[in-house]
Amino acid sequence: MIADLVIRNGTVVTPEADFIASVAIADGRIIAVGDDAAMPAAAETLDATGLHVLPGVIDVHVHFRDPGYPHKEDFGTGTAAAAFGGVTTVFDMPNTIPPTGAADVLAAKHAIASASAHVDYGLYGLLGEDTIGNVDELVAGGVIGFKLYMGNTFGKIPSPSTGAMLEAFEVVAPTGKRVSLHAETNSIMELRETRLRAAGRIDALAHLAARPAVVAVEAVSRAAILAEWTGARVHILHISSAAELRPLAEARARGVDITGETCPHYMMLSSEDYARLGGVIRVNPPVREKSDHEPLWRALADGLIDMIATDHAPHAPEEKTRNDIWTVDCGFPGVETQMPLMLTEVARGRFSIRDYVRWSAANPARIWGLAPRKGAIRPGADADIAIVDLAARWTIDDMKLQSRSKITPWHGREVRGLPLHTLVRGRFVMRDRRLQADARGWGRSVHEIQNMPPAAPRNVDLSLASVTRPPEG
Ligand code: DOR
Ligand code: ZN
Repeated sequence: MIADLVIRNGTVVTPEADFIASVAIADGRIIAVGDDAAMPAAAETLDATGLHVLPGVIDVHVHFRDPGYPHKEDFGTGTAAAAFGGVTTVFDMPNTIPPTGAADVLAAKHAIASASAHVDYGLYGLLGEDTIGNVDELVAGGVIGFKLYMGNTFGKIPSPSTGAMLEAFEVVAPTGKRVSLHAETNSIMELRETRLRAAGRIDALAHLAARPAVVAVEAVSRAAILAEWTGARVHILHISSAAELRPLAEARARGVDITGETCPHYMMLSSEDYARLGGVIRVNPPVREKSDHEPLWRALADGLIDMIATDHAPHAPEEKTRNDIWTVDCGFPGVETQMPLMLTEVARGRFSIRDYVRWSAANPARIWGLAPRKGAIRPGADADIAIVDLAARWTIDDMKLQSRSKITPWHGREVRGLPLHTLVRGRFVMRDRRLQADARGWGRSVHEIQNMPPAAPRNVDLSLASVTRPPEG
C-alpha cells in the first residue's frame, strides 16, 4: 500500500510516552507509527525532525456565534482559529440565534458548519426549560451532547428551575448523552449584581464580587445530586475555583458520572489583572484569585479535572472596552492560544508534554465517546495531528489572530511552542502557518462516530414521565 503522507522522524506524543517515530497516513487514517525504515512508500513526506507530533486538540467548549453574531465570529473564522491553534475538533455551544434547541434550528446549524468548517466539530443541543420536549429530536438530528445554563451569561438564555433541571436530566439520562453545565447559580449572582449596581459599583472587579466561588460551588453540588438521582452523565464546564473541587471529588467518589474541564485563564490570570485589563477580562465564571491556580493545576495533574478547554467566546473590541463593567460582553477568544499557553508551562517544567495530550486530546476523546477514532496518534485513528515546534518563542498579538475578535487578555504575552501544521483526517488544514484554501468545508460532524457507553438511568419509576403516565387498561 502506498501512503498518502509520511510524517518523518518527529517526536510522537501519547499520554504514556514520547518517542521519535514516523507516522504514515492513508485515506485520512493513521496506518503506521514506528521506525522510519519500516514506513510504506508515500506520495508525500514531511520532515518533522526536531518537531513534536501531537494528537490534534479536542476543545469541547467553543462559541462560534453562527448563526446570529457574524460580527463576532462565524464557523469559518472560528474553525480557522482552531486550525492555527492545533485544534482538530471543536464542540460548539448553542447560545446562537436562535438557540440550538429544536431539530430545525440544529439542521440549519449543521448546514452552516458542514459548508464552512475547517476542522471537525460537534454541535451542542440546548437543554432549557422549554426544550426538554425536544431532546429526542435533537439526538436524532445529531447533537454531541446537551448544554444546560444554570446561570445567566451571554445570550441571556434563561436558567431552568431545579424542578425543570431534574426533569431535563430524567429525559436525557436514557439517551446516554452527556449534559454540560454552566454551573453558576443564577439567583445568587442576580441578587448580588442588583445590589452592586445599586451601590454604584461599575468597576471590573464588581463582576467578580457578583459571582464569588460559592455561586459555582452551590451549582456543582446541586447538579451532582440531580445527576446521581437520575443517572444522567454531566460535565462541569469552566471550573474556575479551588472550592468547586470538593463537591466534584465527592460526587465522583459516590460514583456519579461527572467530568470536568478548566481553561487557561483560570490558572494564568487572577484578580490582580482586572485593573490592567478592565472589561477585557470579564468572563463567566470570572477569573478569580491567585490562590485558585495551584489547586486547579493539581486537580488536572491528579485527574480530578479531566481536560482543558477554552470557552472561546469572541466579541468585538467595542463590546469589551465599555466603561461600565455591567455593559461589557463576557468572554474572549481562546481556541488559538490555548496550546501555546499550555506548552509554555511545559517548557517551564510544570508538567510534561504527555500530560498535555492527555488533557487536550486523549481524555476529551474518551469521555465524549470519540475514542479510538480521535484523540490519539495510533494506527486506525483519524489522522488529526498538530505538528508543533516546542522551542519556538513568540509573542501573542491579538491583531494576528484568525478569530474575528481581535481582543484577548493574552495580547503581548510571551509564549513558547507553536503549531506549524495541522491535519484533519489526513488533510492539511493549516500548513506553514497558512490556512489551506481547500480546507473550508472539510470539517465534519463527529456525532456520527460518537460511541457513548450504554445509558444508566436511575429512579426511572419516579420520573415525571412515569408518575404522570395514565394507568393502563
Ligand atoms: O464569558 C462567557 N461568555 N461565558 C459563557 O458562559 C458564555 C460566553 C459567551 O457565549 O460569550
Ligand atoms: Zn462557554
